[in-house]
Amino acid sequence: MQKIVILTGAGISAESGLGTFRAEGGLWAQHRIEDVATPEGFARDPKLVMDFYNARRAQAAEAAPNAGHVALAELEAQFPGEVVLVTQNVDDLHEQSGSRRVMHMHGALKGALCAACDHRWPAPMQMAPGDACPQCGAPTARPDIVWFGEIPYDMDEIYDHLAEADLFVSIGTSGNVYPAAGFVAEARRHGARTIEFNLEPSAIGSQFDDIRIGPATQTLPAWVTEVLATSG
Ligand code: OAD
Repeated sequence: MQKIVILTGAGISAESGLGTFRAEGGLWAQHRIEDVATPEGFARDPKLVMDFYNARRAQAAEAAPNAGHVALAELEAQFPGEVVLVTQNVDDLHEQSGSRRVMHMHGALKGALCAACDHRWPAPMQMAPGDACPQCGAPTARPDIVWFGEIPYDMDEIYDHLAEADLFVSIGTSGNVYPAAGFVAEARRHGARTIEFNLEPSAIGSQFDDIRIGPATQTLPAWVTEVLATSG
């Protein structure tokens, strides 16, 4: 086995104290997607949207990586082939745990983006409607988050990696949001073996060759030990 492509979702950060989206009482039970995670919602009520991401940024700043993040960083450091990590998460817990090759397909809480000129810069802890872009000066700063209706980042590169994957691994994601939910089918089409890690089989669980049920802090360290033991 030469190349492992890993997709992570909110479930890997759940045990670090960051709430998932679709659990009972999760973020999408408390807020409407249309209000806080679409360009139209931002145009209607920018303060509501800024406040939502300010709160999430503050919460993420308090969180620390867990044993699941650490196991993936260790896999990247020690696996003799290539490990590519694609995350839907907007926290930076993968980077904090030492993962180096991380693609944030849904953006990052630590980033700000200018809606006028596309310039990106590190977000302050608190963003407010009308904040100016440091590059062009327009009052059009927004969180660098990919909202529903927008195109996720790094898609060409991600599909290239999926086409080359020997193993595709999906961790802590419910399989409800495309294009990420389509990655397993894409990897399979190119011949990859596939594994899902979740507390329960996801909406697309039947597409995986293997499913490991349990909390990521337990299942991932065990799996990484297994992969490293057989890859020497
Ligand atoms: P969801 O909240 O939809 O799904 C989280 C998944 O993690 C569920 O399938 C849980 O069963 C699983 N899970 C929870 N705790 C776990 C644990 N300790 N170990 C293993 N698995 C666990 O979150 P995502 O699938 O990441 O996008 O959501 C995808 C996208 O929808 C997000 O990136 C976000 C959201 O709307 C945007 O905002 C654009």
